[in-house]
Amino acid sequence: MIQLHDKQFVPFISAQEINFAIAKIAALVEDDFADETPIFIGVLNGAFMVVSDFMKHYKAPCEVSFIKMASYEGTTSTNEVKQLIGLDRDLTGKTVVVIEDIVDTGNTLVALKELFKKQNVKHFKIATLFFKPEALVNDIKIDYVGIRIPNKFIVGFGLDYDGLGRNLPEVYQLKE
Ligand code: HPA
Ligand code: MG
Repeated sequence: MIQLHDKQFVPFISAQEINFAIAKIAALVEDDFADETPIFIGVLNGAFMVVSDFMKHYKAPCEVSFIKMASYEGTTSTNEVKQLIGLDRDLTGKTVVVIEDIVDTGNTLVALKELFKKQNVKHFKIATLFFKPEALVNDIKIDYVGIRIPNKFIVGFGLDYDGLGRNLPEVYQLKE
């Protein structure tokens, strides 16, 4: 068990399971886009670890970039996606694969889709390591899902609780 700020967390998903899930989505994306040079766009801060491991599994030509949005505070998702930073290059004709650490309400992805609609991308795909289907409140399609999880708060592997826990190599769940 670990303690972050005022809360306790128990082990939930091992480093090995995470590695397996990332290898799986990298292989699926590679099958679909090995003939192109996709650009992977990680959503900061949480996705930095997923993107790093994803890239190591992806063997075909590719590029990487990052964007940042502020949408999550504490242990509950706020309804509004507040800001967008980054995306400083022209993506016309590119195959874009957005890489998320986790999709829950889908609010971030709705905002992202709006943003990318204005760019003339060739393909726009979404990949996420974790997905909470019970928390989804938007009608969006997620193209590549690593692991489906129940609607419980998790930390580790890039995911934080008020800034802490991102460095954990495995994932922990909030203790009931
Ligand atoms: N943990 C941390 N950050 C998150 C989560 C979670 O369960 N869901 C969405 N952002
Ligand atoms: Mg995120």
